Amino acid sequence: MEVIVLPGAAEIGRLAADVIERVLKAQPAPVLGLATGSTPEPLYGELIRRHRAEGLSFAHARAFTLDEYVGLPEDHPQRYAAVIRRGLTDHLDLKPDAVQGPNGSAADLLAECLRYEQAIVDAGGVDVQIAGIGSDGHIAFNEPGSSLTSATRLKTLTKRTRADNARFFANADEVPQHVITQGLGTILRSRHLLLIATGAAKAPAVARTVEGPLAASCPASVVQLHPHATVLLDEAAAAQLEHGDYYAEVWAARPSWQPL
Ligand code: GLP
Repeated sequence: MEVIVLPGAAEIGRLAADVIERVLKAQPAPVLGLATGSTPEPLYGELIRRHRAEGLSFAHARAFTLDEYVGLPEDHPQRYAAVIRRGLTDHLDLKPDAVQGPNGSAADLLAECLRYEQAIVDAGGVDVQIAGIGSDGHIAFNEPGSSLTSATRLKTLTKRTRADNARFFANADEVPQHVITQGLGTILRSRHLLLIATGAAKAPAVARTVEGPLAASCPASVVQLHPHATVLLDEAAAAQLEHGDYYAEVWAARPSWQPL
């Protein structure tokens, strides 16, 4: 686990975009793992910029989103499938069927969870997974208590997550109670995990995730189990870390031959 603290969201976006650009250029059929939420927006803005200004191509890539609300109408603007199209994939040259997400309107939701988990396996697994973190320590929609080896499944959102996400809806009651989410085991199988957190509101969850015990009560703490995880933080999100000075020393002393 490498913890990198940068001055702000723009710097994080550029560094994360460098990782994705390297994967896109190195792999014949790269598989990206995409997250929704406000945190990856600067990264997505940077990827769109590189695509437009520098010709960075996604034409040979596929992508899987982390999670989806259950029960929102097909045309609801807050379905994560719509959010990721608006915020990223509509602006790139991905092939039309290259982006997949769990279907929160499937008639058989349990079968849909199994299908989605298998689709990721069939694609060869995720090369680089982007993830944010919830204020309660969730990752994707794995709420506290999630099995550390869980697969894609149905989850019930906490009141706190519904309140956090109410800003995208008319009110907190409109936020669906149920979701389909990749499991912690699914996320652990990605080959590189990029966990991003910005802003003071995330500082307590970041401290528990990075320096607390590995525990289902803080699902994002599975980052500690991941064989190749990079945690990208701004100074506000890193404020409650005990070993911040050491992380800064490691970053400053990083050998130029060692890619992220
Ligand atoms: C939602 C998503 C998570 C995301 C979290 C934080 O709950 N399911 O994937 O990490 O929100 O969102 P934000 O980045 O807007 O703080």
